Amino acid sequence: MEKIVIEKAICYIKEFFSNEYSGHDYWHSYRVYKLASRIAEEEHADLLIVQLAALLHDADDRKISPNTHEKKGNAISFMKQNGVEDQIISEVVKIIEEVSYAGEDSVVPQSIEGKCVQDADRLDAMGAIGIARAFAYGGNHNRVMHDPDIKPNLYMTKEEYQNHLSTTINHFYEKLFRLNGMMNTSAAKKIAVHRDQAMHQYIDEFLLEWEGER
Ligand code: ADP
Ligand code: NI
Repeated sequence: MEKIVIEKAICYIKEFFSNEYSGHDYWHSYRVYKLASRIAEEEHADLLIVQLAALLHDADDRKISPNTHEKKGNAISFMKQNGVEDQIISEVVKIIEEVSYAGEDSVVPQSIEGKCVQDADRLDAMGAIGIARAFAYGGNHNRVMHDPDIKPNLYMTKEEYQNHLSTTINHFYEKLFRLNGMMNTSAAKKIAVHRDQAMHQYIDEFLLEWEGER
């Protein structure tokens, strides 16, 4: 039964994100699901809760589904329709509420399952994939890649983080380089170190090329 619910959740989000190109897409949820499962096995967390929360974590995203965001209506309807127990539904909903990055206002999830999902979601913003997502997001939001005159704004509140205008390169300083120090689980910490290095190498190279030095 558990396997069938997960397969249905994969189909559900594939359909849900079929017209989304903003960086929140089916493949993001799919990667978070894969990575969260790997972390969960190492951390001995409950796989069903981790996988449901990973797959559904963006199904009520504020930007994509503002009307269901508050109460997580899409995630709950999916789980109810597929016979998921109430206890599990409430654990999954709690994780979805805790998982999102919100600058200085981010929270540490209470359960080990939530910690695995949050780590996987953050890891997907890092490394080679993270770099690609950042530029895809920047293009989608009409941002310039880089402007040396616009300085990064570290330490933003949730409101500031969601509303300020900046460049894609600044996003690395404002968010992506900070994720390495924010992992909850030891399984994720090992992956984060590698992805952080890859981003630093890339940005060093970018800035040298920008000045015609490479
Ligand atoms: P979350 O998955 O926590 O909801 P966001 O919605 O903040 O994350 O971001 C989704 C993706 O878009 C991430 O890969 C993130 O790094 C990228 N992104 C978010 N804001 C920016 C930005 N201002 N510039 C470039 N990339 C961004
Ligand atoms: Ni996400």
